[in-house]
Amino acid sequence: MSRIAVLVASTRSTRFADNPLAWLQTKLNESAFEFDVIDVRDLDLPYYDLPTPPAWAHREYATEAERRLGERLDAADGFLVITHEFNHGYSAPLKNVLDHYFIELAHKPIGFIGYGNAGGSRAIEQLKQVVIELDMVPIRHSVNVMGPQYFAIRDGVPVDEAFEPLGASLDKVLKSLTWWVDATAAARAGEAKLA
Ligand SMILES: Cc1cc2nc3c(=O)[nH]c(=O)nc-3n(C[C@H](O)[C@H](O)[C@H](O)COP(=O)(O)O)c2cc1C
Repeated sequence: MSRIAVLVASTRSTRFADNPLAWLQTKLNESAFEFDVIDVRDLDLPYYDLPTPPAWAHREYATEAERRLGERLDAADGFLVITHEFNHGYSAPLKNVLDHYFIELAHKPIGFIGYGNAGGSRAIEQLKQVVIELDMVPIRHSVNVMGPQYFAIRDGVPVDEAFEPLGASLDKVLKSLTWWVDATAAARAGEAKLA
């Protein structure tokens, strides 16, 4: 069974992120994926302070928190990010996570669920640029959570019902993620045989 990690970007105590997260968890429980929720809020990761860039020095961790997270990222065949948008960008704590790692992420696909007045699309576009530099494969389609979901949640509509109109978008993301998880896992396995 393929394993994906879900990165939750928001660190706020009163965050909206828990709604898309709950919906995604329901959908992933019905899918063929095993998954690990990596909540950036819980990580206790220091600001980046390693002596050598991770792309050069693979898996050299200075703290236990960095090592523990590195092992969770290593265990994933692909990723999904749940991201808000602050001033048309993605969050600084998420960037700090990404900057700590390279080999743990490289040659793996990553998809996006954004929320905000433009569905988090500007944050997602920024993330796509950044993950290419990590040698990852950004998934073309994304889920964009907008006003209707915010208002429905505010009005007490259950999460799964509020997010139901986005089901087709999520299906596209998961279908593409599955294709790339399989393709990149096979390619990584071939690489290991050659080594
Ligand atoms: C400093 C700041 C900047 C924001 N900028 C944007 C923005 O550019 N685009 C947007 O859609 N929402 C913006 N928002 C609204 C947040 O995306 C919204 O509060 C969202 O719920 C935050 O995610 P969270 O509740 O999961 O923490 C901004 C909020 C703050 C506090």
